[in-house]
Amino acid sequence: MDTNEKTSDKVVTCPVCSASLLPQSGSLKNGIYATTCENCGHFIKFRCTGPVKSDVKFTINGQSYTIGNQYSGALSLNEWLRRAGVSFGTKVMCMEGGCGVCLVTAKLYDPVSMSEKVFSVNSCLVPLYTCDGWEITTIEGLGDPITGLNPVQKRLASYNGSQCGFCSPAQVMNMHGLLQRVPKPTMQEVEDTFDTSICRCTGYRSILDAMKSFASDAPPHLPGGPIDIEEVDQQLCKKTGQPCSGQCSGHGSLPPLHMVLQDTQWFRPTSKSELFAIIKQVETKNYRLVFGNTGYGVYKDIGPWMYDILIDLRGIKEFYAISFDTTVLFGASLTLSNLLNIFQKSKSDPTLTYFKCLAKHLARVANTGVRNLGCWAGNLMLKHAHPEFVSDIFVMLETVGTKLIVGGPDHSDVNLTLTDFLKTDMKGKVITLAVLPTYQPSDNMYIRTFKVMPRNQNAHAYVSAGFRMQIDKATNYTVTLKPSIVMNGISKTFNHAVLTENYLVGKQLGDPNVLKGALGMLASELIPDASSLTDTNYIKSLALSLFYKFVLGACDTKVSPRYKSGGANLYRPLSSGTQSYDTHKQEWPVSEPMTKTTSELQTSGRVQFVNDVPPQSGELHAAFVLSSVGKAQISNVDTSAALSLPGVLKYLSAADIPPGGKNNYTPTGEFVEEIFSSGEIQFCGQPIGLIVAVDQLTADTAASMVKVTYTNVHPPVLTMVEAIQQGSVFPHVAEEIKVGDAEAAIAASPKKILGQISMESQYHFQMETQISICSPTEDGVGMNVLAATQWIDYVQQVVAGVLNIPESGVNVSVRRLGGAYGSKITRNNQISAACALAAHIMRKPVRLFLNFHDNMKAIGKRFPYLADYQIGVSNEGRLNGIKITVNADCGFSPNDQILSGLFYWLDNAYYCPNWYYIPVALKTNKPSNTSARSPGSCPAVFIMESMMEHIAKCLDKDPLEIRKLNLYQKGQKTPGGMVLNYCNLTSLVSQLELSADVVNRKKQIAAFNQANKWKKKGLSVVPLKFGIGWATATYNVFLTIYHGDGTVAIAHGGVESGQGINTKVSQVCAYELGIAMDTIKIKQDSTLANANSQTTGGSITSELCCLGVIECCKMLKQRMAPVKAKMVDPTWKQLVAKCFQEGVDLSARYFTNETDSSVFHYNVYGVTCTEMELDVLTGENQITSVDMLYDCGESINPEIDIGQAEGAFVMGLGYWLLEKLQFDSKTGENLTAGTWEYKPPMGKDIPISFNIKFLKNAPNPLGVLRSKAVGEPPLCMSCSALFGLKHAMEAARRDISKDVFFALNAPATVEAVQLQCLVDPSQMVYGP
Ligand SMILES: Cc1cc2nc3c(=O)[nH]c(=O)nc-3n(C[C@H](O)[C@H](O)[C@H](O)COP(=O)(O)OP(=O)(O)OC[C@H]3O[C@@H](n4cnc5c(N)ncnc54)[C@H](O)[C@@H]3O)c2cc1C
Ligand code: FES
Ligand code: FES
Repeated sequence: MDTNEKTSDKVVTCPVCSASLLPQSGSLKNGIYATTCENCGHFIKFRCTGPVKSDVKFTINGQSYTIGNQYSGALSLNEWLRRAGVSFGTKVMCMEGGCGVCLVTAKLYDPVSMSEKVFSVNSCLVPLYTCDGWEITTIEGLGDPITGLNPVQKRLASYNGSQCGFCSPAQVMNMHGLLQRVPKPTMQEVEDTFDTSICRCTGYRSILDAMKSFASDAPPHLPGGPIDIEEVDQQLCKKTGQPCSGQCSGHGSLPPLHMVLQDTQWFRPTSKSELFAIIKQVETKNYRLVFGNTGYGVYKDIGPWMYDILIDLRGIKEFYAISFDTTVLFGASLTLSNLLNIFQKSKSDPTLTYFKCLAKHLARVANTGVRNLGCWAGNLMLKHAHPEFVSDIFVMLETVGTKLIVGGPDHSDVNLTLTDFLKTDMKGKVITLAVLPTYQPSDNMYIRTFKVMPRNQNAHAYVSAGFRMQIDKATNYTVTLKPSIVMNGISKTFNHAVLTENYLVGKQLGDPNVLKGALGMLASELIPDASSLTDTNYIKSLALSLFYKFVLGACDTKVSPRYKSGGANLYRPLSSGTQSYDTHKQEWPVSEPMTKTTSELQTSGRVQFVNDVPPQSGELHAAFVLSSVGKAQISNVDTSAALSLPGVLKYLSAADIPPGGKNNYTPTGEFVEEIFSSGEIQFCGQPIGLIVAVDQLTADTAASMVKVTYTNVHPPVLTMVEAIQQGSVFPHVAEEIKVGDAEAAIAASPKKILGQISMESQYHFQMETQISICSPTEDGVGMNVLAATQWIDYVQQVVAGVLNIPESGVNVSVRRLGGAYGSKITRNNQISAACALAAHIMRKPVRLFLNFHDNMKAIGKRFPYLADYQIGVSNEGRLNGIKITVNADCGFSPNDQILSGLFYWLDNAYYCPNWYYIPVALKTNKPSNTSARSPGSCPAVFIMESMMEHIAKCLDKDPLEIRKLNLYQKGQKTPGGMVLNYCNLTSLVSQLELSADVVNRKKQIAAFNQANKWKKKGLSVVPLKFGIGWATATYNVFLTIYHGDGTVAIAHGGVESGQGINTKVSQVCAYELGIAMDTIKIKQDSTLANANSQTTGGSITSELCCLGVIECCKMLKQRMAPVKAKMVDPTWKQLVAKCFQEGVDLSARYFTNETDSSVFHYNVYGVTCTEMELDVLTGENQITSVDMLYDCGESINPEIDIGQAEGAFVMGLGYWLLEKLQFDSKTGENLTAGTWEYKPPMGKDIPISFNIKFLKNAPNPLGVLRSKAVGEPPLCMSCSALFGLKHAMEAARRDISKDVFFALNAPATVEAVQLQCLVDPSQMVYGP
């Protein structure tokens, strides 16, 4: 055995055979490595004494950390932060860069300024070992309510920019990063930066307002103003006590790094020559280069754990080169943000005018966090490895004619075009530089690139395209050189439209026949790949449209005025909003607009969600094993490989359920839903078993290693049409309803209309996925359960059921939820039941946290619906009768279906005397669908409004006219038997018509549509009646006054999930008892204090818990009154003390159980006007404005209620316009179970102008403190966006004489919209 003392490099010379070696394995202890010579087998020990580092050091919030080699090379910064308990404010959700909830900031080298700058980065993608020398700041480093908040935290809280608070730390960190680099940004810069962190609660307006208030150009209605950078960076150095200078954490040049980790070796060379020396050694091995590691967010096959050797490129200075001359050079390690910065700064250089277009394109690539981390070379390598990858970077660089310099260990740099690069074997090679050309103005080079995507921000393109043509305008736009037409998104092999490029050489593009010929040629060579998730017809049509768009822009003098708008992209100005409401000062704090009591705790990341509870001693982690087929029998489960993985402790399945225990997580439902499949597979993604391991990563890895084989495999039933065709129905789950005689009324009507409308599913996208932590009670029998559930009572029943123990032995509690929207009403039952079983068997605490992908695959979502209707109307369009079949896709069980209830919302705002309702519960091989915000009302309203549109089209009338004709009047009776004594619909509609200037705007829209062939606008007005039911809503409200100081604690039985229930309850209690808000504390819900409470849902929990509090306060005041009568003007504290002395019970409990003879207790009314703009050629669209008038009664807290209205509306926008789930037809696998494909709205998907008005002077005589609910109804109103879009599409179809009725099903994605505009190349001309 030899000890070889090394001083400078990491290459070891074998003392026996003199071979040069890299230590391939071994452990590091006190600087000693071990390795075996690969040449002669000699075992060598050696010590590193030179500058080669063998640990990583970084600071977090000013605190230094040194990390040895104890972790996996794949461990992310995020996992470490949370595992080590350093930051629980830094959240985790998708682990692939798509949700942005994990943002932290880090000081990184900025090659543009050649200094270190602060950037926000997605900590889930950052490998821990890449952080050497970094100064990292997490939300905890900025401030907290006790030591003082950072201005961003304060501003977000004061603007009511947090609801559940789960995304709030990330929103703060994103802004912190921007302010650190750009202390006085413009509002545009702010809005552009907010493309990273998804917020499912707020609808973004409040977040954007808060952040824009820091802008240099912020208007007076956004108070706060810019701040001094010192104020932002209050982080103090732990050593000096002064603001951190960044001097002590090793910035600048770091020595090379080499670490032998648990599973891999980590190298960080500091020069090109070091890099190539290492590559030479490892060329034949399984190695990977790492820069930002964001590629893993797109392709999981480059997960760092798959490699024996990881080489970090961050230390190589040559790779940060930037040079401007006759060509422009960019080093390989420039991040996308660096490039964007350069493009923006240099776009006015006359030889680089194309930078302007590239800057616009690049700003729409990925998101700020990913752009800050990832380099352009990494992007190109993704394209190299995955030819189908729609690479914007490839398209941009190839369009302008970029060359790459690629180097290898033999020091031979090669110069390659991008297409040659794609064909080059890159094993052992590295991209070092990009060489971009300059073009003189006299070159007449016309360059433009396009990106059309399913969501306005942070989305991959359907098609990314670029065009470069040298055009001589003087000769009818002659294409003088071979042009470059680059397209990605068509197929694996299609990057250039070669035939069209060749066709165009020397042709006069201004000649309509040449345009026609080029389009024909392009159409002939576009053969889209059918395996993509996008309709191939759309891809082809879109690619043609983009070419046509380019031509319209390039040959502008040839284009007739009406066609010119086709050449331009949609222009989106900054978004803004107004909010208007009443408040009654004499009743404050009731009706006082205030932010949530915990808003500052939320924005400083201090609120604790279930997964933020630090691990208990000996705590284990679990992960589900999910089925990979949709309809089959389990034949065999082979767990051997999984169980042999170090750290894996147990595999559990249905067979492990104790005697008498139930393998059923919906015991009150009619249909058994098994916790673990006992043999039959009902859908792909169904839990089969559970792996228990020492940590989450091991549990997840082992779960994926369990091999399940199946027999009796059948094609799954996935669509409603298939289910109907195959008769796959749950019989008798909801009964038919007849009111009057619809069939006779239709038969007698002069106009009869038949139609069909459908809407698909929606993933809740709650940022906190399903989670439960269970620990056995001290007697070894019972179970403590901390569950992210909306319904603790149900979880209690299910856990008792699976373990076969008394309910009294199960203690369930929950403090708050990171969003729920219905997903946690019944669906957490399965998670808690499985987790409890694991804790019971292991006799240890167990945490079962569903990662985002499993959450998406295993858990049911919003019900899709398909409705077939027959309507009978008068000649004017008055409703006589409706016969309707409503099919609901229940998934594999109908337990959560709401078909019976749906009928009572179906009338929406319109009187129809005769109804025949036929509900059908369809069975498909998908997870059992469940409640999602407005589960029955949202489809009902959409179906009714679609019928209104259909009637209007058939009668050739304005849809608003038909709507107004049928609006409910005061005193009319609904099909549910409710007499509408307080109906104000007619008045609301006319108020909004006036305030939103509907008549004039319709005229302007008509004129716009007349003047523009390729851009269209549409406007829609949709009224709403939304029944609020109180029946069966039981909440066990407990309120106690402490005799020592008179402070109050409440446990109210509702679950705080962002709707502000805790704040409203506190306001009401303060009002009733006449005490200060800050003397009231809301405690967590538990099955002890809040036993037998119903689920939180249906928009009613806040008001009913307030009711419970009022009743508790009444009881207490009554008990205290005799004592008070004996005192002279006592303070509250004195009164409480005296009452205690006299033996008054200072605790009260009220069990809400408000019954009502009608289905609904009262109605909410509202009306929305939405204007949309459409790019007909691409299908892209935007919401120009929304004006909503909403009757919220006397809102208990208008600020919170406005937030609810905005959030619900935007969640609805996602449903109608963006969010689409797709399944593999053979296996039933959810192909959209990731953030790459599933796209909820982001900040630039919201209305550009978003105006919400709560009806003034509108006390609700039937509500709690005259208020009305708001959690769900605005979601139903958002379908007005889809109808506005439909009107714009109708205008496009009118131009081609195709303006006949068509059903616009939801979601109306960009793709679906363009296809239904019936664009075809014959319309792509210069003018009529
Ligand atoms: C949420 C998200 C959204 C995205 N959206 C888009 C989008 O809209 N459009 C788009 O085009 N892209 C998009 N991307 C892809 C993104 O641009 C790339 O992930 C990023 O540019 C890769 O750079 P990186 O430094 O992180 O590479 P890494 O992930 O570190 O590496 C990726 C690959 O490149 C190799 N590599 C890195 N540097 C070099 C080099 N110098 N020479 C040779 N090989 C090298 C690595 O070995 C690895 O195989 C998105 C990514 C994410 C996570
Ligand atoms: S968890 Fe990091 S982006 Fe989603
Ligand atoms: S507040 Fe943003 S996700 Fe809940």
